[in-house]
Amino acid sequence: MKDTPIDYVTVKKKIQEYVVTSVGKSSIREIVRLVNYVEKATGEKFIRMEMGVPGLPPSKVGIEAEIEALKKGVASKYAMIEGVPELKREITRFVKLFLDIDVNPAGCIPTVGSMQGGMATFMVANRNDKNREGTLFIDPGFPVQKQQVIVLGHTYRSFDIYNYRGNKLKDKIESYLVTGKVSSILYSSPNNPSWICFSEKELKIIGELANKYDVIVVEDLAYICMDFRKDYSIPGEPPFQPTVAKYTDNYLLLISSSKVFSYAGQRIGMMVISDKLFIRKYPDLKRYYASDQFGHSMIYGALYALSAGVCHSSQWGLATILKEANDGNYHFIEEVKEYGEKARIMKEMFLKNGFNIVYDKDEGEPIADGFYFTFAYPGFSGSELLEELLYYGISAITLDITGSNRHEGLRACVSYVGWDQMASLEYRLKIFHEHHS
Ligand SMILES: Cc1ncc(COP(=O)(O)O)c(C=O)c1O
Repeated sequence: MKDTPIDYVTVKKKIQEYVVTSVGKSSIREIVRLVNYVEKATGEKFIRMEMGVPGLPPSKVGIEAEIEALKKGVASKYAMIEGVPELKREITRFVKLFLDIDVNPAGCIPTVGSMQGGMATFMVANRNDKNREGTLFIDPGFPVQKQQVIVLGHTYRSFDIYNYRGNKLKDKIESYLVTGKVSSILYSSPNNPSWICFSEKELKIIGELANKYDVIVVEDLAYICMDFRKDYSIPGEPPFQPTVAKYTDNYLLLISSSKVFSYAGQRIGMMVISDKLFIRKYPDLKRYYASDQFGHSMIYGALYALSAGVCHSSQWGLATILKEANDGNYHFIEEVKEYGEKARIMKEMFLKNGFNIVYDKDEGEPIADGFYFTFAYPGFSGSELLEELLYYGISAITLDITGSNRHEGLRACVSYVGWDQMASLEYRLKIFHEHHS
């Protein structure tokens, strides 16, 4: 028992009261609950890095457009399931201007967050061939997506990217695809939780394998344009957000508005289906849907069954956000750059105090500073470190729950850490290091 920044006895007591198995095995929401109770009992504010929530105000133009739409009466009207035409058009423009890809408005569909986009995707992409079984996840990843696959009764395969960057990725992915059982491949880039970003070379490998084995690539762009090492901010001008869409037509993109436009509460995201995939016919889809066409099954099969479309006013909000971004009037990347700056400062503090960054490189290049980073401390497993840090007023999540093989690691999300907490974080890390080195 040490003289820790947060009262040792109180933290211990709260862990005994609220943790079911072990702190390390707790879900993100369980950690949130535990830290809420410790903060209440001790009156001490934690450095909260456990939840991936936007820490910035929502996009103003979006809110104003939603209010306007509500005043015009959209609340009483069902929106079309495929999305309002103005929004579909702006999504087409957005992917042209920021990813440099051409997609018809027909394949640009709003979803209730990328969360629903993922669910609908699995419902169609994993049912297009009766001989295939489910998704290959390139991990680490967002745990709920595996939960979605499981509740749908599909199976999944997964591997940790850590030892398979660059050319090594080809043989590794191919070893799963040769089984003939994989329907779709999913990854996020920038990645939650590790913040690695796939290079053009890696995206080319994935795209070419998708062509060879006729697998659908689901590229999760929840953090689109947020690799701040490059300037993706000028619409229509290179560099563009790298995407697998340059290397295959077998793609479906999930673009969240939650982080990049700080619009998480409005639950609206974008699904972008390539023109070829949209019209492609898969006879086995008829087992579940009236049509064998991919796009039709997505809209009038999956999305209809899930929620019959997306909140009408949110669609107007997002349409306006995108229009402003596309016209070069709304500099959304400028607004979220703050996350990169925070990550840079926080990572320095961790490194100075004996910690190391777990996923630290993109093919030899130092990883970007962004929404998340991963860290470890010598001699601790991730679970042990998570629990020990609670006595020092710092909360995070373990990498174990993300499909990572780096069992020593934790994920930190920088968004909720206030600038006014930086000194406190530095002090707490210093004391931790003094107690454990
Ligand atoms: C990788 C990844 N995919 C999808 C989502 C879900 O996004 P949305 O809020 O649009 O449902 C998140 C949210 O944290 C995420 O990190």
